[in-house]
Amino acid sequence: MISIKNVKYSYETATVLRDVSFQVKKGEKVVILGVNGSGKSTLLKVLNGLIFPSEGEYLYKGERITEKKLKDKAFNKKFRKEVVLLFQSPDSMLFNPTVYDEIAFGLRQLGEDKKVIDEKVRYWADKIGIYRHLDKPPFNLSGGEKQKVCLASLLVLEPELMLLDEPTSNLDPRSTGWFIDFLYELDKTVITTTHNLGLAVEMGERGIVLSENHTVIYDGCLKGFLKDRDKLIEANLVHIHKHRHGKVEHSHYHTHLFFD
Ligand SMILES: Nc1ncnc2c1ncn2[C@@H]1O[C@H](COP(=O)(O)OP(=O)(O)OP(=O)(O)O)[C@@H](O)[C@H]1O
Ligand SMILES: [Mg+2]
Repeated sequence: MISIKNVKYSYETATVLRDVSFQVKKGEKVVILGVNGSGKSTLLKVLNGLIFPSEGEYLYKGERITEKKLKDKAFNKKFRKEVVLLFQSPDSMLFNPTVYDEIAFGLRQLGEDKKVIDEKVRYWADKIGIYRHLDKPPFNLSGGEKQKVCLASLLVLEPELMLLDEPTSNLDPRSTGWFIDFLYELDKTVITTTHNLGLAVEMGERGIVLSENHTVIYDGCLKGFLKDRDKLIEANLVHIHKHRHGKVEHSHYHTHLFFD
């Protein structure tokens, strides 16, 4: 479904993706791991066709995704419906006067029938647990509620590829549990980013790990990665801090994982 080949991406001041290559098959659930600033969000923006690689190429269903390709109206409409991105910060996605309008927005853009839109909005609002907020302005909701509104606004489009940037960052333990179950049952291709190692294994079997140097340093079984101390250290996903056992104080590497 996706093929990324030798992708490089640079902002004005720095290169934040270097020689990134991988493929994702339809139906796979992939987790992208890496420390703050390693390039996870940038990579999802490339996959969503919001920014374009300065070197290398990105193919979606065999089509090369370029700025020019997305100017083709018919292709743009298809791509925007099939590939959706849940932004790391929900505030950057919310701009409609009510939650209802927020969820309906994408379908209205696609020119869907009013009645169909109403059915879909209510169905997803109910499924995601935000039905009671439908008439409220999104800005007044809590961080977790906003994240759920954003999620519903993507799911109404019935996309094929979902790109989820730190989807649980604002969720409490109960909502996180719900989200993990939801993701597990979701019959779609999903690429999720996180730096929460404990949750990562719940979000997919395959992990792609970005280093601080913005290259892929691991692509494979996530559980295998989490057991590989040297790789964890290379990715800087473990840290050292002091802690106490009774009167004894010492330091060693920590992941704060259940098996730590
Ligand atoms: N619009 C931008 N202009 C310039 N630099 C940017 C821009 N967006 C991100 N960066 C830089 O690119 C690097 C990678 O950012 P990115 O947001 O992709 O990292 P990330 O892995 O998602 O981090 P986090 O875990 O904090 O979300 C960072 O050093 C960041 O400062
Ligand atoms: Mg990010």
